[in-house]
Amino acid sequence: ILPSSLKILDFSFNFLPTLKRSVFPQLYDLQHLDLTRCHIHHIADDAFLNMKNLTTLILTGNPVSYFGPDSLNVLHKLHRLVLMDSGLYSLNIRFNNLTKLQELNIGTNNIQSMALPPFMIHFEDFNLLDLHANNISILKVNDTNILQQMKGNLTLILSRNPILHIEPGAFQNMYLRELNIRNAFASLDAQRDGLKALSGLNVGKLVIGNYRLDYRSKTSDGDLNGLCLINFEEIDSLCAGWSASELQCIVNATKISIERGNVRAIKNVPFQRVKELRIVANYIPVSMELSHLETLETLVAIQTPNILIVRISDMPRLQHIDLSQNGVDIRNCCENYFKRMPNIRSLNLSNNRNMYLSKNPFSGLSSLEVLDFHQTTLGGLAANFKLYKKLWNVRYLDISYIGFMFRSTMSFGSLSRLKVLKMAGNHFQGDALSYLFENLTSVEYIDISNCEIDSIAWRTFKDLPRLQQLLLNQNRLMVLDFVTHPNLKDLRLLEVHTNIIASIPLNILQNLPKNLTVLDLSFNPIDCSCSQINFILWITSHQQIFPQKNNILCKSQSLGSSYINALGSRHKTIDFDVESCERIRRFTIVTSICAVVLLVLASFLAYRFQFYLRYGYILLKGYRTSRQQEWSYDAFVIYSSKDECWVMDELVENLENGIPPIHLCLHVRDFEAGKAITSNIIDEGIMGSRKIIVVVSKHFTDSSWCRFEFEVAQSWLVTQGNPNIIIIILEDVEEEKTKKVFGLHKTPEKEHLPEVELKSHK
Ligand SMILES: *[C@@H]1O[C@H](CO)[C@@H](O)[C@H](O)[C@H]1NC(C)=O
Ligand SMILES: *[C@@H]1O[C@H](CO)[C@@H](O)[C@H](O)[C@H]1NC(C)=O
Ligand SMILES: *[C@@H]1O[C@H](CO)[C@@H](O)[C@H](O)[C@H]1NC(C)=O
Ligand SMILES: *[C@@H]1O[C@H](CO)[C@@H](O)[C@H](O)[C@H]1NC(C)=O
Ligand SMILES: *[C@@H]1O[C@H](CO)[C@@H](O)[C@H](O)[C@H]1NC(C)=O
Ligand SMILES: *[C@@H]1O[C@H](CO)[C@@H](O)[C@H](O)[C@H]1NC(C)=O
Ligand SMILES: *[C@@H]1O[C@H](CO)[C@@H](O)[C@H](O)[C@H]1NC(C)=O
Repeated sequence: ILPSSLKILDFSFNFLPTLKRSVFPQLYDLQHLDLTRCHIHHIADDAFLNMKNLTTLILTGNPVSYFGPDSLNVLHKLHRLVLMDSGLYSLNIRFNNLTKLQELNIGTNNIQSMALPPFMIHFEDFNLLDLHANNISILKVNDTNILQQMKGNLTLILSRNPILHIEPGAFQNMYLRELNIRNAFASLDAQRDGLKALSGLNVGKLVIGNYRLDYRSKTSDGDLNGLCLINFEEIDSLCAGWSASELQCIVNATKISIERGNVRAIKNVPFQRVKELRIVANYIPVSMELSHLETLETLVAIQTPNILIVRISDMPRLQHIDLSQNGVDIRNCCENYFKRMPNIRSLNLSNNRNMYLSKNPFSGLSSLEVLDFHQTTLGGLAANFKLYKKLWNVRYLDISYIGFMFRSTMSFGSLSRLKVLKMAGNHFQGDALSYLFENLTSVEYIDISNCEIDSIAWRTFKDLPRLQQLLLNQNRLMVLDFVTHPNLKDLRLLEVHTNIIASIPLNILQNLPKNLTVLDLSFNPIDCSCSQINFILWITSHQQIFPQKNNILCKSQSLGSSYINALGSRHKTIDFDVESCERIRRFTIVTSICAVVLLVLASFLAYRFQFYLRYGYILLKGYRTSRQQEWSYDAFVIYSSKDECWVMDELVENLENGIPPIHLCLHVRDFEAGKAITSNIIDEGIMGSRKIIVVVSKHFTDSSWCRFEFEVAQSWLVTQGNPNIIIIILEDVEEEKTKKVFGLHKTPEKEHLPEVELKSHK
């Protein structure tokens, strides 16, 4: 199954009790084989014949009880052999042919002697012997014979051994690149004597101390004095106590790191060559007075509460100062604090308590390129000054969470080379933000997260053509129109998570900077409604630009804009069912069309049957009207207006002027203007009159209004039980037509209107 061209094979954590040739196929290209914890007991002589070209063989954690005599020897090209945790009691294995071997790791075994087999003298490239966590308690002169003869450049790791005694002279004149004797002694006394027995050793880097703070090492004094007899370039100390006299032993080192030590003071230590000095997490407050160290380039004194900086001055080569995480007050910063050190390029004062700026805080620090004092509250008068005046060369400025209120728009006046500006967790007064970045023409990265910003003016980033990354998280932004400013064309990353953006209009989405490849919109209350369908579609089709696309959540309906739902039931925007909107849209369209059609149909029907509608209406009204009647007229005359002459001249003339006068109701004269004609007919005419006179003529039978009035009157009188209709036939009317008019109600006519008087005019 394994391709023969395989180069690296990690076969760890399998079950291979017996390793022999047939286990693996021929893998001549294989270089790296990892057989960690494969329960290997037996390694046959031919075990590695199929992979002769291995350079790395890892056999960690196998309880090997039998090594075939020549099993390893076929691996002529082996560089690295790891036999950790293999239950070895000695290096009694044949690997004399591995002349290319560089690293031998036999840590975590039970080996009691560090003597190497003589053949290793010929291993010319050998450079790492790792004997950590074995059972070496005595180191004799003879044990180092072979090491002495291997020409230097060797790293020797003896950590976590129970060394009781080192024979003096064992390391005399030996050169090691690195010696690790951290936790290598059985006791503190053994360490004290052991260090002295290392006398005459030359070593590049010496790793000492303990992995854990040892109660004894805290209180002891003088157990490190043996270091004065060793020549070393670098010293890396962990959990060791350092008295003033012990510090004298490290004055010739170039690189010094004391972590979790017990240093009381670093004062007037005559360091000769030190380039880098690191004091990390000292257990007690250390008082530092450093000056005139001509070689010092890097000074790190961090994580030490209440560190007392008495003086740091006059060090012409000093370039990097890190005094972060000490939780102290820094007063009179910074030119007075760091006097006569013109080459300071980076200054890290972050994570301290308070910082008080002097009047011209950075005037002596014109080489400064990196300035970081985030999380250190800016106190005192300085708050109003032009903070960053004269920082011509600063490229990196971190002033996040310094509790500063930016009032002046000139705060960054001269930082024209600034590339990175981190200023999260501060505040802006008025429109300071809009003008703040005016001269930062080189800036590529700005972080103004968590600044309670609720809007950003269009002009804010207009002078920043190189801006590539903009972080605006945890603000209160609702709109992002400012990112479409044409000068922001280089913008690649925009983070606006945890704001209150509900949606982004299409015109902004279409004008986002072309190079924008990361947009973090997570934890905004996205409005997932169909009205925002374009925005949601845009999100779902641009998923690759959202680093946290599963956290782009829909505003939960019940919780308003609150972000956390105890049930975690908020929907991801990318899961929004876009098709539901399409369904709703279609449904809406269909219902609207139906409604319109129905309306048209109803209007058509109403128009077509308006007569019946009116008729029905009147009947209804008639039923509802009370019976008590006050007649205003004696008779209502129903006639065609074409017969008006006759009505006026004959009928009105005779009846109204007769004795007694009969008061007639004529539509031309008596109907109320502005009232619907049907209402007039019923109110004024039919209901307001005692009798009804119908003037029948040809015109009458032709007029639908007349017929209507007549029918209404008939129906009305039927419902009222008041059958007083006088019909005047004005001229001969064709029988057909008369029937058409009167025949409509032929049957009721005969039954209910027996008293209709038919009078011929003549
Ligand atoms: C080891 O080297 C010797 C001498 O070069 C050679 O004779 C012998 O065959 C080698 N052994 C193996 C297992 O390759
Ligand atoms: C370590 O070596 C000592 C003798 O030097 C021996 O008594 C002890 O049993 C050894 N410890 C282990 C764990 O093998
Ligand atoms: C010493 O060994 C290291 C790697 O282990 C190598 O980088 C370095 O060049 C060597 N130095 C000398 C002088 O051989
Ligand atoms: C430091 O080096 C000087 C010579 O350069 C030597 O005299 C002195 O003993 C050395 N000090 C230590 C502690 O090794
Ligand atoms: C300053 O120190 C802090 C640790 O306190 C570290 O996180 C930060 O990266 C450092 N600043 C720079 C610019 O290296
Ligand atoms: C920007 O620089 C110009 C000229 O260097 C200066 O006049 C102006 O005040 C500066 N603007 C800000 C906001 O500092
Ligand atoms: C977009 O980025 C590429 C490199 O990633 C750059 O060459 C190009 O100029 C950028 N485009 C714009 C408009 O800045």
